Amino acid sequence: MGVVGRTVLFNLRNRVFLKLQDLPVAFFNENKTGDLISRINNDTDKLNLFFSQGLVQFAGNLFLMIGAGIFLVSLNPPLGMAALLPALGVLVATRLMSPWVKKKNVMNLQSLGGMSAEIQESLNNFKVIVAFNRLDYFRRKFDGANQKNFSSAVGAGLASNLFMPIYGLAQLIVIGYGIYLIAAGNLTIGLLIGFVLYINSFYMPLRQIAALWSSLQLALAALDRISEVLALESNMPVSAAGRTPSRSVLKFENVKFSYPGGKEVLRDTSFTLEGGKTYALVGPTGGGKTTTASLMARLYDPTSGMVFLDGRDIRTYKPDDRTKKIGFILQEPFLFTGTVRDNIVYGNERYRNHSSEQLIEVLRENSLGDLLGRFDQGLDTKVTSSGDSISLGQKQLIAFMRAALRNPDLLILDEATDNIDAVTEQLLQGILDKLPPSTTKVIIAHRLNTIANADEIFFVNSGEIIPAGSMEQAVDMLLLGKRES
Ligand SMILES: Nc1ncnc2c1ncn2[C@@H]1O[C@H](COP(=O)(O)OP(=O)(O)OP(=O)(O)O)[C@@H](O)[C@H]1O
Ligand SMILES: [Mg+2]
Repeated sequence: MGVVGRTVLFNLRNRVFLKLQDLPVAFFNENKTGDLISRINNDTDKLNLFFSQGLVQFAGNLFLMIGAGIFLVSLNPPLGMAALLPALGVLVATRLMSPWVKKKNVMNLQSLGGMSAEIQESLNNFKVIVAFNRLDYFRRKFDGANQKNFSSAVGAGLASNLFMPIYGLAQLIVIGYGIYLIAAGNLTIGLLIGFVLYINSFYMPLRQIAALWSSLQLALAALDRISEVLALESNMPVSAAGRTPSRSVLKFENVKFSYPGGKEVLRDTSFTLEGGKTYALVGPTGGGKTTTASLMARLYDPTSGMVFLDGRDIRTYKPDDRTKKIGFILQEPFLFTGTVRDNIVYGNERYRNHSSEQLIEVLRENSLGDLLGRFDQGLDTKVTSSGDSISLGQKQLIAFMRAALRNPDLLILDEATDNIDAVTEQLLQGILDKLPPSTTKVIIAHRLNTIANADEIFFVNSGEIIPAGSMEQAVDMLLLGKRES
C-alpha cells in the first residue's frame, strides 16, 4: 500500500474515532463496542483497499479492454461484434446484481463486527467465565458468530465469482461463428486462430474488472457502515442561551426520562438544589438515583422537561464549560491505563504540566495528600483501564481526587464511599467539609451514616423524587418501599 493509501486510511480512521468520541452516552448503550472497533479497523481497511489499489487497476484494465475491443471489431466487424456480445451480458447482469452482492457484503461485514463484539465481551468477562466455569457457553456463542461470519463470507465470495463461466461462452461463440464464416468463405483459418488468441486480451481485463467490481461492492458496503457512524448527530447539541429562572445551582423542571426502549425511570420530577448545600439521594436499588445524577451532569437529555445549571438551561453550556462546573464520581469509576498521577490530572489543564512534587503539594493544600498513602507507590502506582491492579476502593479514591481537584461548583458522588474502609471514609468526609463553602454536594449512598450530615434528603423511587424530610423519615420510606416491592 502506498503513502497515499496509508494517509487516506489514517485520516479515515481518525475521523471515525473522533466521531465516536463525540457521540452521546446513549449511543454506547445501544451499540456493541466490538462492532464499533470492527468499523474502525476492518471497514476502513476494506474501503481503503479499493481506493488505494483497486481504482488504479480498474482504470488500467478499462483502458486495455477498450483498446482490445476496438481492435477486434476493426479486424473483422461481424466476428468482432459477436466476440464482444457476452461482455454486454456481463454488463447487464452486473448492474442487476450489484445491490444483491452489496447486501451480501454488508452482511459479511456485520457478522465480522458481531464476531469482534463476541470476542470483546468474553475477554471482558473472563473472570466470570472462569468463576462459573462457563467456557462452553461463550464457546458456543463464539462458534455461532464465527459460523455466521463463515456462511456470509462464502455467500459474498460466491456472489463475486458468478461471471466466470461467461468468458468460456465468448470463446465458444467466436469459434462457432468463425467456423460458419470460414465455411461461407468470409474468413481464413489463420485469422480465426488469431482472433481466438486475441480475444483473451479483451476478456482478461474484463475478468479483472469483474473481480474489482466485487471489491467495489465490498468497499461500498464498508462505506455504508462507516457513513452510518459519521452521519450520527455529534454530542448533544448546544442550544443558544435562554431564560434565567432562578439563582439555584441546579434545578429540575418537570423532568421525565426513559432509556431508549426502556420503561419510564423519572416521571415528572421537579426539585431545586441551592448553592453550598449538601443533598443526599436515597432509595432502593434500581430506583433511579444514578439516572438522576446522570441527568444532572447531562450524560443524557430528559425525554421532556428542563434541567437548569446556574439558572441557565444546561443544554446551552459548551461541554467544556459544563464539565468544569460539575464533578461526577461515577458508581463505576473509569480509569485509564497509566499511573495514578495520569488519572488524577486527566482533563485538568491546570495541573497537567506540574512536576510530581508540585502536584503532591497541590494535593496537600486540598487536604488530599493523605489519600495518596493508600497507594503503594503514591502518584506512580500503575493502574490499568480494567482496574484489576488496584482495589475498587482505590479506584474510587482516584476518581475522588480527580473530581475534587477540579474544584467544581457541583460535586456528585454516586456511592463513592461504599467500598472504602471506615477510616478512609472519615478522611473523605473531612475533605468534603473543607471544600469551598459554595460547593454544592450531591451524595448518593446506600450506607445511611454517610448522609447523616446532608442538609436535605431526597427519596428516589418508582419515577419520583420526593423530599424525605428527616433522616428517620428517609429510613421509613426505604423500609416501606422495600415492603411494597
Ligand atoms: N443504560 C441503561 N439502559 C436502560 N435502562 C437502564 C440503564 N441504566 C439503568 N437503567 C434502568 O433504569 C432504572 C434506574 O436505574 P439506576 O441505575 O438509576 O438505579 P439506581 O437507583 O442508581 O440503583 P443502584 O442503587 O443499584 O445504583 C433501572 O430500572 C434500570 O434497569
Ligand atoms: Mg446507581
